[in-house]
Amino acid sequence: MTKPKKLIEVAMPIKEISAESVRDKSIRHGHISTLHLWWARRPLPVCRAVVFASLVPDPEDTNCPKAFKEAIELLLGKKNNPGDPYAPYADIPWTSIYDPMQDNLRNRLQMFIGKFTQPMQDHLLGKATKPQAGKMLTDESLIKWDSKNNEKIINKARKLIWVAHNNDSNNTATELLADFDKHYKAIKDAENELYSLTDRHLETDKSKQLTENLHNAIEAFLDKMPKVFDPFAGGGAIPLEAARLGCRSYGNDINPVAHIIQKGSLEFPQKYGKPINYTKEEFVKLYGEDEFKIINNEHKIINNGNVVGVNIPNRLSFDVEFYAKKLLAETEKEIGHLYKSEKTDNIPIAFFWARVGICSNPTCKAEVPLLKRFALCDTPNKKVYLKPIIKDTDIDFEISSRKIDGGWLNKSLTCPCCSSTTTTKDLKEQASNNLINERLLVIIEDSPNGKIYRLPTQKEIKLANIDKSLFDDSFIPSESMKEIPDLVSGRGWNINKWSQMFSSRQLYALQTLIQNFYIIKESQIKSNYSDALITYLGIFLDRIIQRQTSFGIWDITRENLQAIFARQSIAMMFDYPESNPFSNFGGGALNQLDWITRYIESECKNTFSTVLQNASSGEKEQFKEKYLTSVITDPPYYDAIAYADLSDFFYVWLKRTLGDIYPLNFLTPQTPKTEECTALKHHHDNDKQNAKLHFENKLLEIFDAIEHQTSDIVSIMFAHQSTEAWTTLCNSILGAKMNITGSWALDTEYSFTGLKQNKAFLSSSVTVSCVPTQSEGYGDYKEVKKAIEATVAREVEELYRLGFRGADLLTACFGQAVSEFGKYKKVEKADGSEVTVAELLAMARESAFNALLKGFEGDEFTKFYIGWLQLNGFAETDFDDAATFAKAGLTINVAELFRENILIQNKNKQTLATFAERNKLKTNLGAKSDSYLIDQVHKAMQLFKGTNRNALLDFINDRASTPDANFWRVLTSLDELLPKDCEDHKMTRGLLSNKESLIRESKETQKPIVQQGTLELE
Ligand SMILES: C[S@@+](CC[C@H](N)C(=O)[O-])C[C@H]1O[C@@H](n2cnc3c(N)ncnc32)[C@H](O)[C@@H]1O
Repeated sequence: MTKPKKLIEVAMPIKEISAESVRDKSIRHGHISTLHLWWARRPLPVCRAVVFASLVPDPEDTNCPKAFKEAIELLLGKKNNPGDPYAPYADIPWTSIYDPMQDNLRNRLQMFIGKFTQPMQDHLLGKATKPQAGKMLTDESLIKWDSKNNEKIINKARKLIWVAHNNDSNNTATELLADFDKHYKAIKDAENELYSLTDRHLETDKSKQLTENLHNAIEAFLDKMPKVFDPFAGGGAIPLEAARLGCRSYGNDINPVAHIIQKGSLEFPQKYGKPINYTKEEFVKLYGEDEFKIINNEHKIINNGNVVGVNIPNRLSFDVEFYAKKLLAETEKEIGHLYKSEKTDNIPIAFFWARVGICSNPTCKAEVPLLKRFALCDTPNKKVYLKPIIKDTDIDFEISSRKIDGGWLNKSLTCPCCSSTTTTKDLKEQASNNLINERLLVIIEDSPNGKIYRLPTQKEIKLANIDKSLFDDSFIPSESMKEIPDLVSGRGWNINKWSQMFSSRQLYALQTLIQNFYIIKESQIKSNYSDALITYLGIFLDRIIQRQTSFGIWDITRENLQAIFARQSIAMMFDYPESNPFSNFGGGALNQLDWITRYIESECKNTFSTVLQNASSGEKEQFKEKYLTSVITDPPYYDAIAYADLSDFFYVWLKRTLGDIYPLNFLTPQTPKTEECTALKHHHDNDKQNAKLHFENKLLEIFDAIEHQTSDIVSIMFAHQSTEAWTTLCNSILGAKMNITGSWALDTEYSFTGLKQNKAFLSSSVTVSCVPTQSEGYGDYKEVKKAIEATVAREVEELYRLGFRGADLLTACFGQAVSEFGKYKKVEKADGSEVTVAELLAMARESAFNALLKGFEGDEFTKFYIGWLQLNGFAETDFDDAATFAKAGLTINVAELFRENILIQNKNKQTLATFAERNKLKTNLGAKSDSYLIDQVHKAMQLFKGTNRNALLDFINDRASTPDANFWRVLTSLDELLPKDCEDHKMTRGLLSNKESLIRESKETQKPIVQQGTLELE
């Protein structure tokens, strides 16, 4: 029987998914991203939607099993039953599907994934303001953040997947759903039995039996659900959602740090974050009398008026909190005095340091703090600045509430004592001779009146500098840092060991924390459970370490500490806040604990965990042939993120904290790099070509294995915009004998208002669904080209209507183009040569560009300007792109584009020129009557901005004296396309809104003026 298409191949509610994904970025407590940093996590709504839509058939497909259609009716309501939560929109444009939506099963399924609330619908129809983030989707939407623990909604999805997956039997939906209920109930019953057993932590025959019963019930359930694998699991968002939807979920990652994060996110909360009842004796034995005394009444088990036991709602989070607090308390006893305030009763929350360089003037040699600014706090209501006090070569400070502009370090260092300049090169030279020191400048304290900034005392300065003899080398991460631009080691400041990321007091605190961590670890009786507990303490230490480095930032507007990795790199920091680990401040250690326990508590409701492997994917033997139902994944974005290099920051510590629990994972000195599937040239002797080849081969090897192991859909998310990255991805998909059957741009940082300025990265990720190829025979180039042009034109129109612009729009078309191409084994040109994927994608770009220009009449340069603006806005793009576009249906060449200042080149990048830039580069822009339209428009903008109204009116009269002149048409196009807050847009708006008066006045100024004293006589 022919398989029906999966929903993801046919329809997705992309606007709804995008809206909730934007919200996902700001969700904090309980969100997977808050347990431990990982780079480029996918938003959960996208993952949940893609997993679900990859596993259920399109109900409108003629081959869709009857039982599945019945199940939709049973679970999501029947057709023509208005008022029910999954009824499609009556009238709403710009959504997943056309306006109005037909009430059919496919659309009901889409509305189940995500449906806009009435206020959001009203907003989209222009009738109301946008509702708050949490009110955009209905409460019944599967992908809504708030649905993740809503059993009623999640079970609807599980049931639909169950019916879709078990439809081979000729059962009805009712029978299949009854079978689901039976299996699900068996799990719940087994859980209830196990979790109500008192002292179940003790290994007794009963506890072992009940644990096994639960295990068997879960296995019996999972045997009837799809097997979903993510070979690039990273921070774990995809397998987390696959497991939530009741699938047998598998995840691989090559990186040991990612693997530990996955254990903490996808395995332990689901397995161990469960209730436990203790007898009083056992509780006291484990935690002591003092802990028993502070147990809340609601958790006490009372019998005949006596407290006989304790009920803990979540054993894992309770233990993590108990031992983490113990770890902190022991450490504070030892080193707490190093952080005490000598001057006040307040608790210092942070210590503000600056690195210190030496003035290169030989007669001065002042030791100058490398301050880029003097501000410590700058909010509308509070100003705190360092006020320099200079005496000869002594530099001191006072704290001032008066704003002091600037700083001493800009591109070079200006000495405040002698005004000499010390270049960065000189400073780096000093760094290489270990002459750059550090100086504690300010102590920031918490007080009842807010944060107080004061100068440190001599004793406090002494306490902040720890004598190196106190260090135990085995705790100090002396491993070297690779010298790459993504890490500070590659920036020439002689920072080349991981230990140099920390001040002496920070290292000492971390050493003491780890020593106490070892004591706790040794006190545990080894078991799977205790390994989980210790893993969280390792994650806890990682969170502290991320905030205890000398590369954090003091945020002067929020008065708090920003931990490193705000970006996907480590930059040089010339000043930094050292947080007091024992304060309750955001950067303090205790605060880190809360994030962990909240995550455990937020994900413990789910019973299904993920099977995790710390391995490079691509092993054909990992799963039997066609064992997996579906692969859903998010491969590395070519060269965008140096995962292994960045994660060494954590690896060197995790090796020390968890290395004995995970000996095989922490075998190598630092994270394994050679097998990483990225195109980073520094891993290949700076050879870009080799890096590309490595990425392509690795991806092909992995996709090849996946194709062998998977029976249904492979869904791949990708968020890199460059054609090069896409070429490589598509080559690997096609090379692994798969073809693309669906392609969706799911916007994850979506703003509903047009283009973003200066951003070349993809704000949406494109998800393509692939199936084993049915490619047959040879395609004729001309025919395939025609098909691609038609498909891309259709796609452009649709995506443009949905609000996609720029690179996002373009890349979304790639998938469609590849699907045409992948239908054939080979596509040949007239001369018999094979068309490459690179050529194909260039063709797709060209078609997209042409489709966007369709209907626009004008000269070639103006056409190019408009087309480019649509695709790229003012973002920086790769040099090759201009050549590609210029070729696309236009007769101009790249050199002309630069000569006419349409594009501005900057090394191997380029940007579209603004009207101001163009007028600056060419003073007589648009002067000739036959000038390009875009030149004329830019000239008019310049005149509109200026003060010479007569010149503007003359210009209008000359070039745009009628309302239908092409000049105004170009302006109207620009008005729609330009980023809303830029100067170009303001001028465009200004001209357009004054159009009528400008035309009228321009005519009036041209009337002959009758001069006094002359007589007009015949
Ligand atoms: C884009 S990230 C995945 C992010 C993930 N979807 C999330 O939401 O957090 C890609 C991941 O692939 C992993 N990776 C790179 N090469 C690999 C390989 N050869 N085998 C397995 N994983 C690999 C990287 O370590 C990284 O975590």
